[in-house]
Amino acid sequence: MFYKSLLKPLLFQLNAESAHEAAIKVSDLTSNSTLFRKIASDIYGFEHPSLEREFFGLKFPNPVGLAAGFDKNGVAPKAMQSLGFGFVEIGSITAKPSNGNPKPRAFRLPEDHSLINRMGLNNEGAEAVVNRLKNIRLDIPLGINIAKTNDMTIEGDDALRDYLISYELANTVADYITVNISCPNTGEGKTFEDPSALKELLETLKPQKENRKPTLVKFSVDTPREALTELLEICESFEIAGYVATNTSSGRDGLLHSPKQKIISIGNGGLSGRAIADQSTKVIGWIADVIQGSKPIIGVGGIDSPKAAWEKLDAGADLLQVYTGMVYEGPGLIQSIKKELCDC
Ligand SMILES: Cc1cc2nc3c(=O)[nH]c(=O)nc-3n(C[C@H](O)[C@H](O)[C@H](O)COP(=O)(O)O)c2cc1C
Repeated sequence: MFYKSLLKPLLFQLNAESAHEAAIKVSDLTSNSTLFRKIASDIYGFEHPSLEREFFGLKFPNPVGLAAGFDKNGVAPKAMQSLGFGFVEIGSITAKPSNGNPKPRAFRLPEDHSLINRMGLNNEGAEAVVNRLKNIRLDIPLGINIAKTNDMTIEGDDALRDYLISYELANTVADYITVNISCPNTGEGKTFEDPSALKELLETLKPQKENRKPTLVKFSVDTPREALTELLEICESFEIAGYVATNTSSGRDGLLHSPKQKIISIGNGGLSGRAIADQSTKVIGWIADVIQGSKPIIGVGGIDSPKAAWEKLDAGADLLQVYTGMVYEGPGLIQSIKKELCDC
């Protein structure tokens, strides 16, 4: 209530990125204040034994996590814990710090409960973020999402080394690591969703090696079924611990209510939110068909209500993540999903 009636109207006066920066500042403050964290968990906390989950050796107090991209630099995981998230995914982090793409680069499409972003993997760099996270003690699993530095000149073996730097640093503090292969251009005109590129990447990272943290792979919502099946086969041969489905879309088909002119004027970027919910659920179903429950799937893409959360679980997701839904519904969304899932 507080978010929708008071905070959201204020935040929506700002452009999408400034609103996000304000939210991160408040989250940072909350992370560093015992009092603020207590107030947040008094308002938003809700736990019940029936919500607990265990996957790849980690205990999740509840299945609703924060998706990558909200806290790219790991400044607010404690605040996210107080808001009732069952796990947080920091990043994407990259080997080199990056300012990302020129602004404006984040846009709201409220008619469709969606966002378009072309942030371009802006982050402080793996070393700075991992050093910050070293000093944080959390009661929920900490995921770190890694990607290749957004620099077209880093290609071939250098691109693989770039990923490896982030992977090895993340391995020192994360409870699990997500390899984001659905990031744009590697400079060679292909993404790491190309089968041979993914194979080379996993050969470099060696997720199956002893002492590696459970390693997940994150797919784009745009991956066709056949290509996905091929990618999953590769992942399975490297003992990947689970899958995150899905990342944003380059398509615009799911936008049913936003003004056409506005969509055109925004230009390129990844579409998230309600507009990708159905396709993301479909991709989760395809993965579930292939892996037959052998590994957990984190379902993400357009979860903005308990009903949307159930659709992901029914399709085969074991854990959930939220980003865009929280922009429109506020942190109370996490509590309402948990109450709906609770067998109280
Ligand atoms: C502004 C913004 C930035 C994002 N940055 C990242 C990122 O750095 N790495 C990543 O793997 N996903 C990133 N995502 C994708 C989300 O993690 C998520 O997969 C996607 O938005 C679908 O979920 P949603 O509809 O709940 O937002 C970003 C999404 C948004 C909206």
